Amino acid sequence: MPLKPLTIAVTGANSGIGLRAAGQLAAEGHRVYALCRDAVRGGAALEQVNSRAAVPARLVVTDLADPASVRSAAAEITGELDRLDVLIHNAAVFDQTMRAPRFTDDGHELFWATNHLGPHLLTAELSPLMAAAPAPRLVTVASKGLVAMPWIRIRFDELDSPRWYSPTKAYYHAKLAQIMLSLRLARHARGAVDVVCLRVPAVRLDADRVAAMPSLLRALYAPKNRAALPPEQLARTYARIATRPDPWNDPVGSWSGDRKASGGVYRDERCRPVPAPAFAYDEEARERLWQVSQEATGHPEWAW
Ligand SMILES: NC(=O)c1ccc[n+]([C@@H]2O[C@H](COP(=O)([O-])OP(=O)(O)OC[C@H]3O[C@@H](n4cnc5c(N)ncnc54)[C@H](OP(=O)(O)O)[C@@H]3O)[C@@H](O)[C@H]2O)c1
Repeated sequence: MPLKPLTIAVTGANSGIGLRAAGQLAAEGHRVYALCRDAVRGGAALEQVNSRAAVPARLVVTDLADPASVRSAAAEITGELDRLDVLIHNAAVFDQTMRAPRFTDDGHELFWATNHLGPHLLTAELSPLMAAAPAPRLVTVASKGLVAMPWIRIRFDELDSPRWYSPTKAYYHAKLAQIMLSLRLARHARGAVDVVCLRVPAVRLDADRVAAMPSLLRALYAPKNRAALPPEQLARTYARIATRPDPWNDPVGSWSGDRKASGGVYRDERCRPVPAPAFAYDEEARERLWQVSQEATGHPEWAW
């Protein structure tokens, strides 16, 4: 059992890294809220997690692409807890078979809605509960693939436009936004919440994910998947970041604007500070992203 059990919410806890992280954290005695979009897949995952949990985990059905579902999940959690220590934004859509853009009921492109707007809204909705925790920590997830895109920018004037869409572009665009949200929050909250954005490298996908790919994509993906890190390894990184008071021996969330180190906000899988794409350090762009994200999510109130 850990010295201090924490209450930890993990999105996308039914597969891959999120499932392993939920399992490890629950086995260590933390109270885990597993946020999954599908009740059946989530229920199966919860059984697995709870088979070795010291404290049973709770399933909360949450579709990040649906603001009503995000609000209702946050209300459910808020109704049960008096504080939330850690929120891990692990869920993401990165389905390369979505060759044509899809749009949510409120008109947002699906990758943008799921991978950026959903996490933005969920963080806002849970921020009062996190503010009630003694040392709250927010963990967002980006991708090492961004290293190959140093000039990537937020396309403010065509956020939901199908003109530039490809699943790869839409995915990395939303991941850049996650880094920018993290840097913005770290600076704005001034230590009221620790913010860490984890740069995840290639990680082996679950067998059912690979099996669902069309045969050509599956064949192309096979060598990459074999060389990728096991999800258990990244889950250990999540657990370390979520639960250690000082996971890397320097202050987390004390970003002072230093581009190279980003003050510990952006970290690799070994918890080392790493630089983000240049655009993430444009303070005006971060504010603009904040404003458009606020507008797109109905101007939620934040505790910080
Ligand atoms: N695997 C890699 O090589 C790699 C590389 C860089 C970064 N990452 C990042 O690491 C994180 C975990 O990835 P993974 O490899 O563990 O992938 P995964 O097994 O595909 O897990 C993704 C999770 O996100 C959930 N999700 C998708 N859309 C959702 C929605 N609308 N609402 C709620 N949940 C939703 C999925 O639920 P369903 O089962 O319902 O689809 C699933 O639980 C992601 O943020 C990913 O971008 C992964």
